Amino acid sequence: MSRKLFIAGNWKMNLSRSEAGELARALAAKIGHVEAVDLAVCPTMVQLATVGELIQGTQIALGAQNMFYEDNGAFTGETSAAMLRDVGCRYVILGHSERRHVIGETDELINRKVLKAMSEGLEPIFCVGELLEQRESGETMEVVRRQVEVGLEGVSAGDAARVTIAYEPVWAIGTGHTATPQQAQEVHAMIRELLAGRYDAELADAIRIQYGGSVKPSNAAELLNQPDIDGALVGGASLKADDFTGIVQAGL
Ligand code: PGA
Repeated sequence: MSRKLFIAGNWKMNLSRSEAGELARALAAKIGHVEAVDLAVCPTMVQLATVGELIQGTQIALGAQNMFYEDNGAFTGETSAAMLRDVGCRYVILGHSERRHVIGETDELINRKVLKAMSEGLEPIFCVGELLEQRESGETMEVVRRQVEVGLEGVSAGDAARVTIAYEPVWAIGTGHTATPQQAQEVHAMIRELLAGRYDAELADAIRIQYGGSVKPSNAAELLNQPDIDGALVGGASLKADDFTGIVQAGL
């Protein structure tokens, strides 16, 4: 089965409104017509509307970086799935390592968000990945397996087809230390095997697994050429139109 590559930019907590607008305009001009690879950008909550308008009519979809699992009410500072849909989001990043390790999100909390996102018609980009000390002590597979198992608890086969998993080794995020294509491929293959056991081989074959962690134009092709790497979740390099475009071109 050939999976269409999916490359998403995670802008994190960066860019003013005018900078975000400028980047969105540049991306619309450079890669807005690309159809061979699925594309998304994920700006901060306050810039979703602005960026959404600027990429309207292009092939670039809009995604958010987080959401809450309740519908509405007294949850100060949170944003619901329906609000994200309403502002034009197709995707939502959930379980990003910065939310796990800086904000303290647990597998169980992330699972509630995944279920809510699915029920509201959003497509989660569900992130997993081990810490450096976990890799060094040989726990990578066990850690990632648990994150996938708990994070996708209760997700039906029908819904699982709309999930993208992003494998992002925490030691590779924003550090310039990319996992080698072989290191990444090994974990991606394990995740796919896990999905095959949980659902079935056909569905596991259809679910996209992105790699994330210091992806840049110079290393993208090698990573994207691995059999089980189906795209990239790009942080730092997604803030520069030329770099993000270079990564997308590597996938064409
Ligand atoms: P990075 O971030 O590309 O800056 O390493 C990736 C991510 O956190 O999604």
